[in-house]
Amino acid sequence: MQLSISKWYKILAPRPVVLISTVNIRNNPNAAPFSFVMPCSTEPPLVAFASDPDHHTVKNILETKDFVVNIPSRKLLKQLWTCANDFPYGVSEIKKANLTEEKSIKVKSPKIKECFAHLECKLYKHYRAGDHLLIVGKVLRADIDEKYLLKKQYSITKADPLMHISGTEFGVLGKVIKVR
Ligand SMILES: Cc1cc2nc3c(=O)[nH]c(=O)nc-3n(C[C@H](O)[C@H](O)[C@H](O)COP(=O)(O)O)c2cc1C
Repeated sequence: MQLSISKWYKILAPRPVVLISTVNIRNNPNAAPFSFVMPCSTEPPLVAFASDPDHHTVKNILETKDFVVNIPSRKLLKQLWTCANDFPYGVSEIKKANLTEEKSIKVKSPKIKECFAHLECKLYKHYRAGDHLLIVGKVLRADIDEKYLLKKQYSITKADPLMHISGTEFGVLGKVIKVR
């Protein structure tokens, strides 16, 4: 069955969903969920995401040149959904969602304490990609809650990250399978 071309990305799913936190020049924090996210280089360490150019997230990153990729687990679904609201510019979704801002080590943008892992990124490049802007960040620091490490390996079943399917639908991972 052929799918309408406008719906193509709906079958490239589920996608990991992250909360991207930023600040504007007045130091007002902002956070929003994003699922058009991918690693794109290991050396240098680069991560990319695609955003509607009108999002406050983009405005802040172009102003202050950094951001944090916060990785939420299933238990933060409601808070993540609150962060997707279109609050006025300068209003902190982190506060609105009753989440906690935590000072980052390498960047001005705050981390979200309740997320189990964080990538502190400096803006590396940005490109126009159709109706989105592709933002590439250089990862300056990465941390993860050690209770989600099993023999120093990231345990996906313990961390329980959220995957976005479409609209209000999310997936979670129940099981890990091995090829051999
Ligand atoms: C699960 C989920 C994933 C999303 N992924 C993206 C995305 O990848 N790119 C995008 O531009 N917007 C995405 N959005 C929409 C933004 O999060 C939403 O428009 C938000 O209000 C933007 O906030 P901001 O203006 O504070 O940056 C997503 C929303 C949800 C709920």
